[in-house]
Order: sequence, then structure tokens, then C-alpha cells
Amino acid sequence: MKSLSLVLALLAPVQAGLRFPCSTLTIERLDPVVQPGMTPSTHVHHIVGGNAFNATMTGDVGERATCTTCQMADDFSNYWTAHLYFKHPTNGSYHRIPVLPVQPLLGGSNGAQGGLTVYYTQFDLLRDNLRSQPVKSFPPGFRMTVGDPGITGTAQVGLRYQCLSSNGGRGRETPSFPTSPCPGGIFTTHHFPACWDGKNLDSPDHQSHMYNTITYDGFTNAPKCPSSHPVRMPQVAFETTWDTSKFNSMWTPGAPNPFVWSFEGNSAGTHADYMFGWKGDSLQKAMDKSECFYDGCGSIKKQPMATANRCTIEKAVKEETDGWLSALPAFLSTAREENPPEC
Ligand SMILES: *[C@@H]1O[C@H](CO)[C@@H](O)[C@H](O)[C@H]1NC(C)=O
Ligand SMILES: *[C@@H]1O[C@H](CO)[C@@H](O)[C@H](O)[C@H]1NC(C)=O
Repeated sequence: MKSLSLVLALLAPVQAGLRFPCSTLTIERLDPVVQPGMTPSTHVHHIVGGNAFNATMTGDVGERATCTTCQMADDFSNYWTAHLYFKHPTNGSYHRIPVLPVQPLLGGSNGAQGGLTVYYTQFDLLRDNLRSQPVKSFPPGFRMTVGDPGITGTAQVGLRYQCLSSNGGRGRETPSFPTSPCPGGIFTTHHFPACWDGKNLDSPDHQSHMYNTITYDGFTNAPKCPSSHPVRMPQVAFETTWDTSKFNSMWTPGAPNPFVWSFEGNSAGTHADYMFGWKGDSLQKAMDKSECFYDGCGSIKKQPMATANRCTIEKAVKEETDGWLSALPAFLSTAREENPPEC
């Protein structure tokens, strides 16, 4: 195996850590991390992962779920981001942007449907750091978010956009939406922080139990964790391909970018949520393996994506999120909802 690893290392510069596809599980207004118990939550999310997903998730998700849309058969975690919508520049109608599977560099997307690609890296894409600092798996019940829909200005480091060319080339990373049409769609990346306070499964803002050491890009070396957050966790990242191609011809030349996040938000508000749900110590075992290579981490169990695609849940929020809409689902129904005020 070592020599195969060396050959791969010479061929491709990116290969330390887990990387795998997850198909779309559901697209609806639910957010068990930020708005637990609210059905619906305030904006539409694109959600992948285990079938224990619901509005009030607590405890050991990996014990409760019975299937997952992810290629890693023991990963019942849930991963989600806001959904991207097109806002027609002249008539103001909205349309949901379809999601395409990301084509990983090695192995293709293996039949994923929509979804996103998930990474768990130990240090950067070339190396692990296990000799200097072990990587500890997340404990059951752990959750966190990255980014904030309320932010204006510039998205934080590690939250990035790329404009895909027709052959899938990714182009330069930018902190905001591309400013002209992207023939292959818009690619988003969400890197989570990787240093934990060692105590809290969550925090009131869902972020302060974690510390972000990313200074330039989340796939480069992970700097040392600070003493306030001394525990090195896997660096989690998601990549999503939003297929904007059908809407490019409706983008008035010279007009601002017509894409909005589902909270009617601009590019700075890009954010993502993570709910840990690996079964038992399966993630820990994968992370303990030095130079864990994409989908070849020790004894890690994989399933065909055809099996993953059969994992479904019933929608809890029965409302239209597709087709041409006169307003985003969040705003269509505010009049008839009595949501508790956020505090
Ligand atoms: C979510 O799932 C748990 C465990 O099955 C269940 O106890 C709870 O009632 C569910 N919550 C909702 C809102 O359906
Ligand atoms: C806006 O334009 C789209 C695309 O042409 C069309 O399908 C939709 O019905 C229009 N919306 C309204 C309110 O006219």
C-alpha cells in the first residue's frame, strides 16, 4: 500500500484526508442547529447525510439513523448550506438553482445525485500532522456552524466562490459571487474551524466552542490550535456545484449578479452547518490513520452511491421550493407564520 500511496502522491498533489460524495437528502426549511424545533425554519437549506435528520436532533445521531446519502456507510452526519436561488433581474421572480454532483479529481462522483462533496482533512491536502498532534473525532451530539447570514461586506476566509468554465475548470477563488455568467455553474466551498474547546458540544452562537486557524485557505497547513481551544479536530469542508447555466441567458449584461441565497442574502452571508453523526468510533479510526487517502482510510466502510441514493426522508415542511416563485419561501409565508422572535 505504501508504494501505491507514493505513486498517487507523485501523480496528484491533493490527497491527505477523507473526501467523498453525499447525494441530496432533502431541500426544505429546517435547521436543527440554529432554529431547533422550528418547522419551518426561516430559510431553505440543501441538506445531505443521514436519515435521522429532523427539526429537533439531539444525542447520538449515528445510533439513530438507519441510512445515509453519503458514500461512507458509517457516516450518518448531516451537512447543509443555504440554498442558492436565481432572482429574475426584470420581473423579480425566483427560481431554485439545481445542484450538480461535484466531480472529484479521483474516481468521479460515482453516481451521486446533486449533493455535495465532504472533506475531513488532518492537516492539509498533502500531509497529516498526526506525529505532532493527534486528530480527535467529534463527540456524539457535536454541532457547529460557519459563516453568518447576517454578515455584509466580505465573507470570512475559507468561504469561497469559484466560476466554473464549460469544461469544469474552477477558476480563481473569490470571497463573493462571480460578477459575470459562469458557463459551468458556481462552485462554493465552506471550510469549518478545526480547534475545539474540548468541553462544549455546541455554544449559544454555534461557533465559539470552535476556533478558526484558517489564515489563507482551508486546504493549506492548519496552524497550531490556541490554548483556549486546544483540541485538534478534523478540518471539515463542503464543496457544492450550483448549476446556474440555465439562468445565464436571463442575466442582463452589466446588471449585478442575479443570484441570491435563500435568506435573500448576498454573497457575504454564505454559511454552513454540521451535525456530527458517525457511528461509534468509525471516524476516529479513519483519522488515526497516517496519510489517510481520500476514500481509502483504513477499515472505513463504503457503500455504492446507488444504495446511498435510496436513503430518503419525508419532507416535514410541505411548501413549494421549486418552479418560478413570486418570493423566496422564507418570505412567501411570513404573513401566516407565528415564529417566536429570535433572541
Ligand atoms: C426527531 O426524531 C426524534 C428521534 O426519532 C424524535 O424523538 C423527535 O420527536 C423528532 N422530532 C420531530 C420534530 O419530528
Ligand atoms: C419571470 O420570467 C420567467 C422567465 O421568463 C417566467 O417564467 C416567470 O413566469 C416570470 N414571472 C412573472 C411574475 O412574470
